[in-house]
Amino acid sequence: MDFWRLLTNNLAPDKLALIEEASNIASEEGTPLYIVGGAVRDLIIGRPVEDLDLVVEGDAETFAYLVAKRLSGHVVSKSQFSTAKVRVGDILLDFITARNEHYHKPGALPQIAHRTIIEDLSRRDFSINTMAVALHLGKEHPLIDQFGGMKDIQDGLIRSLHDKSFTDDATRILRAIRYEQRLGFSLESNTQNFLTRDLRMIDTISGERLRKEFHRCLSEENSIMILSRASELGILTAINPVLRNTLPTLLLAYTAASKKKLNSELSDHVQLALLAYEMTPEEGESFILRMRMPSRWMSIVRDTISLKSLLSTLSLATLSKAELFQHLASYNDQALRACMLAAKDEDTMQLLLLFLRDLRNIKPALNGKDLIALGIPKGTAVGETLKSLLTARLDGKVTSKSDEAELVRKFLLSSD
Ligand code: CTP
Repeated sequence: MDFWRLLTNNLAPDKLALIEEASNIASEEGTPLYIVGGAVRDLIIGRPVEDLDLVVEGDAETFAYLVAKRLSGHVVSKSQFSTAKVRVGDILLDFITARNEHYHKPGALPQIAHRTIIEDLSRRDFSINTMAVALHLGKEHPLIDQFGGMKDIQDGLIRSLHDKSFTDDATRILRAIRYEQRLGFSLESNTQNFLTRDLRMIDTISGERLRKEFHRCLSEENSIMILSRASELGILTAINPVLRNTLPTLLLAYTAASKKKLNSELSDHVQLALLAYEMTPEEGESFILRMRMPSRWMSIVRDTISLKSLLSTLSLATLSKAELFQHLASYNDQALRACMLAAKDEDTMQLLLLFLRDLRNIKPALNGKDLIALGIPKGTAVGETLKSLLTARLDGKVTSKSDEAELVRKFLLSSD
C-alpha cells in the first residue's frame, strides 16, 4: 500500500504539507515518527480520516518544540501523559510519546513510561488500532503491523490483543461494539468471550469515563445498532440495572422516526431521553449518579420521566391549545421529542407534534415597548399582558398585530 498516496488523497493540502515538514524534521533529527491507530485503520479501510495521532519514539514534547520552531508555530498544550499539540496557522498537530501503560488496578488511569513504538502498539485495545506508518524514513513509509491488524480488517474482526484487555480498561467493552457496528465487523470469538466474562469490570470505570465513552456510542451514525448490541450482550444492564428494559422503547422510537421520516430527531440527547423513558424517578437518579451526569444530561433524564407521567393525564380532546402550551412549555426539547417518538398512542404523539411544530413557535406580535406605548404601565403588568396576548394567540382569538392592539386597549379599559 502506498500510504503517502492515501494520505495525499485524504488530507487537506495544508495539513499534508505540515506532516511532510514534520517528517523531514524527523528524518534529519533521526527521531522515529509514526502515524498510528485510528488514522491508519481508516486510511486502509477507506473511511475519512478524522484526527491524526503522531507518535514519537523519544520525547514528544521536545520534538513538538522543534517542529514549532522550524515551522513558526507554537506549542499550545502539553499534558502529564507526554503529549504536546503544535499549532501552525489554523492547523493543530498532536504529538504523543511512544509509551506503555501499566494499570496498577483495573479501571485506574495508567502509569506511563517511555517505550518503543512496538511496545506502544502492544498496549492498545484492538488489533485494527495497532498499526503504524513510519514517517521518518524519507520516501519509504512502511506499515508496522505486528498484531495482525491488516488481516483482521480483511476478515472484518474486532480482536483484543490479550485476555486482560477489558480488565485493564473496561471502557474497551463499549469501544468494541462501537467499532463493530460502525465498521460492520464482528467480535472475534475469544474477544466476545472475554467481553462477556469481564462485564462486571464496568463497575471499575469512573462515572465520567463511562459517560464519555457512552456518549461516543450515542453520537455514532448507527447508535441504535450499538445500543441494541449493548443490550444483547448484557452491557447496558452491567452499566446499571435500570437500563435493562430500555431496548423496546429505543426500537419503537427508531421505527416511529423512520416511518414518519423523523430520523434527524434521534440525536444523541434524544436517545439519552429515550433510555430514561421507562424509568421511575428513583431509577433516573441512579442512572444520573452512575454516569456522573452534567446538568444538561440530568435535566434531560428528569424531564423525560416527569413528562411521560404528565402525558398520561393529558388529552387533545379536553385541552385548549393555550392550556397545552402551559403544561409543556417548561420541558426541554429532548424530553419532548423522545416522548413524542416513544408514545404508544396516536393522541399523545399528535399532541406533542402540535406543540413542537406549531404552538412552541407562536409569539405575540407586540413586544414590551409596544405595550408601554399603548399605555400599559412599566413593571409586572407588561409581562402579564404579554402572557395574555400569547394565550389569545394560541387559542386563535387574535391573529394579527392590530387584533392584539385592540385586545390591549380592552384590557386597559376594563382595568380603569
Ligand atoms: N486506545 C486504547 N484503549 C482505549 C482508548 C484508546 O487502546 N481505551 C487507543 C487505540 O489504539 C486508539 C487510540 O488509542 O486507536 C486513540 O483513541 P481514540 O481517539 O479514542 O480512537 P480513534 O480510533 O482514533 O478514534 P475513533 O474511535 O473516534 O475512530
